[in-house]
Amino acid sequence: MGPCFLLLLMIVGSAIPQRPGIADSLINILIQGMRQFNEEPRNERNILSEYDFIIVGAGTAGCVMANRLTEVQNWKVLLLEAGREENFVMDIPIVANFLQFTEANWKYKTMPSSSACLGHTNKQCNFPRGKVMGGSSVLNYMIYSRGNRRDYDYWEKLGNTGWSYKDILPYFRKSEDNTIPNLTKDKTYHSTGGYLTVSYAPYRTPLAKAFIEAGLETGAKELDYNGEVQTGFSYLQTTMKNGTRWSSSRAFLHPIRKRKNLHVKKMSMVTKILIDPKTLQAYGIEFIQNNRRYVVRARMEVIISAGAINSPQLLMVSGIGPKEHLTKMGIPVLQNLKVGFNLMDHIALGGLTFIVNQSVSLRTEHLLDDQNNFVEYLAYHKGPFSIPGGCEAAAFYDLQHPEDPDGYPDIELLFQGGSIVSEPTFRRNFGISDELFDAVYKPIENEHTWMVLPMVLRPKSKGRIMLKDKNPLSKPLIYHNYYSEPEDMETMLGGIKKTLELGNTKAFKRLGSKLHNIPIPACSRFGFGSDDYWRCASRQLTFTIYHQSGTCKMGPASDPEAVVNPRLQVYGVSRLRVVDASVIPYIPAGHTNAPTYMIAEKAADMIKEDWDAKKK
Ligand SMILES: Cc1cc2nc3c(=O)[nH]c(=O)nc-3n(C[C@H](O)[C@H](O)[C@H](O)COP(=O)(O)OP(=O)(O)OC[C@H]3O[C@@H](n4cnc5c(N)ncnc54)[C@H](O)[C@@H]3O)c2cc1C
Ligand SMILES: *[C@@H]1O[C@H](CO)[C@@H](O)[C@H](O)[C@H]1NC(C)=O
Ligand SMILES: *[C@@H]1O[C@H](CO)[C@@H](O)[C@H](O)[C@H]1NC(C)=O
Ligand SMILES: *[C@@H]1O[C@H](CO)[C@@H](O)[C@H](O)[C@H]1NC(C)=O
Repeated sequence: MGPCFLLLLMIVGSAIPQRPGIADSLINILIQGMRQFNEEPRNERNILSEYDFIIVGAGTAGCVMANRLTEVQNWKVLLLEAGREENFVMDIPIVANFLQFTEANWKYKTMPSSSACLGHTNKQCNFPRGKVMGGSSVLNYMIYSRGNRRDYDYWEKLGNTGWSYKDILPYFRKSEDNTIPNLTKDKTYHSTGGYLTVSYAPYRTPLAKAFIEAGLETGAKELDYNGEVQTGFSYLQTTMKNGTRWSSSRAFLHPIRKRKNLHVKKMSMVTKILIDPKTLQAYGIEFIQNNRRYVVRARMEVIISAGAINSPQLLMVSGIGPKEHLTKMGIPVLQNLKVGFNLMDHIALGGLTFIVNQSVSLRTEHLLDDQNNFVEYLAYHKGPFSIPGGCEAAAFYDLQHPEDPDGYPDIELLFQGGSIVSEPTFRRNFGISDELFDAVYKPIENEHTWMVLPMVLRPKSKGRIMLKDKNPLSKPLIYHNYYSEPEDMETMLGGIKKTLELGNTKAFKRLGSKLHNIPIPACSRFGFGSDDYWRCASRQLTFTIYHQSGTCKMGPASDPEAVVNPRLQVYGVSRLRVVDASVIPYIPAGHTNAPTYMIAEKAADMIKEDWDAKKK
C-alpha cells in the first residue's frame, strides 16, 4: 500500500498548480486511481449453487452479518455486493466529499418538490449511497453517534420487544473498540477490543476549539454524547482508526479474510428474491454479474441488507409491497405490506455561514498547497487530512426543555471547520444551483469561514420510496416530503437561533467571526435574519445528513405499517429478513451508522438463537 499511496499523493500534489480546474482534476485523479486498484485481480472464489445464508449488500449491516454468521463454522454464507472493492484512497478522511463523484455512489436524486431543496438544481436533493464493499460506511463522514436512550425505549413501547435501551446497549458495546481514553473508563457505555474502532480525529482546527468554548461560555457542558447524558457539546467521536476510515468492510471483513465458510461476490447486483408462491418461503436470489444472470439458493435464510433505498426496492420488485402500487407496476403481489413508506431522514439548513478574519478554517487549496500536510498524513496519519470531510464537533439541545440537565435532544448543531466555499466541489455534493451559489457565496469564495448545520433530530415528516417500473435496475422514485409537518420547521428555526447565539460568543468574536449576511435572492423579500427569512432559507438550502431510514419498518403484528417483526422477519414470508437502516421504526436522535451496526449485531444473535432452537 505504501508506494502506491505515495505515488497518488504525488500526482495529486503535482496537479495543484493548474488552479482553475483544481476540483475537476482532483476528482479525475481520484477516479483514475480507484479504477487502477479496482482492476487488480480479485480473489473471488467460484460460488456454489447453494448456501445456508445469502446476504444481499455488503454495507454497514451486511459486513457485520457476514462476520457474525460465519462464526458458526458449519454455516456457509454468501455475501453479494453490487459495488467494487474498497481502496486506500477512500480511507483518507478528508476526501469524503470527493467519493460521491465516483462510481462508489449510487447517485440517487429525490423527486423535485415544492417544499425543500428549492435552491438546488431542478429542485432535487442528492441522496448519495455507498455502492462499494462497506456500503455507505465508505462514503460517510464517520460520525459515531448512537442517539438517545429514550429513542430505543420508544421502539420497545411501540411493541418491539427486545429493543429497549437496556436490551440494545450491549450490542453497541459488542462492536466497539473505543480508543478515547476518557471514554474507555466508562464501562457502562463503552468497550474496547471490538471490531469497530472509535476515536477522535487526530487534528482540530482552532475553530472547533472555539465551538466547544462557545458552548461552555453559554452554560452548556462538554460531555460524551454516547454516554449517560446526551445534551451538551463534544468533539466528534468517529469510526476512524489511526487517522484512517474504519469502514464496516475494514472493520468486519478484513480480519476474517481466511474464513472458508464465507464467499464474497462483488459487482453482483441482486435483482430478485426468489419466493415460492405457494408456501411463501424465500429460497434464494437471482443476481446479475457482467450481464450474466445467476441463481443461488439459500437453505436457511435470505437476508436483505441493501440499505434504506435499495432494500424496499428489492422487496417490491420481488412481489412484497403495497398491493395497489405493485399491481400498477405489473408485479404479481405475493405479500401486501407497506414497503417503502415511513422514509425518515435528518435535514439541516446548509447555509448558516460565518466569516472569520484569520486563516483558521479548512480550505482545500491551502491544504493541498502545503507539502507538510501530505507528509504529515503519509508518515503519521495526522494533520488536517485526517478530518472527516470537515466535520469536527457537535452540540445537542433539547429546545423544549432547556432546563433539563438530561434532555431529549430535538436539535443537533453539527459544526464544520469550513463551509460551502471552503471546497470547490462541496456545493456539487448537494446540487446547489449556480444562480444561488453565485449570488450568495461567490462574493466570499476566498474567505475563511465556519458553518453549523442545525439538524432536526426527531422529525415528524415522512417520505416514501416507490418503484419507477418493475425493472430492478431502474432507480426508484424518492419522495422526501421534508417539512410536510410544520413542527419540523419550527424546530429548525430554534436550532438556527441557537447557532446565532453561539456566533456571538467571545470565543468566536475573538476570531472576528461575523454572520455572512448576503440574502438568498428567493428569500430576500422577508428581510435577512427574520424568522420567515430563515424558514425560507431552510427550504432553499436543504442539506440531507444522509440518514435515510425506516422504509421496511419493524413493528408488532398489530402495526399496519410494519414490514418486519421485532425479529426482523418479513411478515408473511418465511426465511426472509431485512437487516439494515430500513427496519428503524423511528429515527434516533443521533446519526444512523452506529444504530445500524447495533441492529446487525442484534440480528445476528437472533438468527443464531432461532436456528439453534430449531436444531434441538
Ligand atoms: C455521504 C454520507 C455521509 C454519512 N455520514 C454519516 C455519519 O457521519 N455518521 C453516521 O452515523 N451516518 C452517516 N451516514 C449514514 C450511514 O452511513 C448509513 O445510515 C449506514 O451506512 C446505513 O447502513 P446500511 O447497512 O443500512 O446500508 P449501506 O451501508 O448503504 O449498505 C447497503 C449495501 O447494499 C448494496 N446493495 C444495494 N442494493 C443491492 C443489490 N440489489 N444487490 C447487491 N448489493 C446491493 C449497496 O451497494 C451497499 O453496499 C452517511 C451516509 C452517507 C451516504
Ligand atoms: C477528559 O478527562 C480530563 C481529565 O480527567 C477532563 O479534564 C476532561 O474534561 C475530560 N473530557 C471529557 C470530554 O469528558
Ligand atoms: C499509524 O499510522 C502510521 C502511518 O502509517 C504508522 O507509522 C503508525 O505506526 C500507526 N500507528 C498505530 C498505532 O498503528
Ligand atoms: C480579528 O477580529 C478581532 C475582533 O474584532 C480583532 O481583535 C483582531 O485583531 C482581528 N484580527 C485580524 C488578523 O484582523
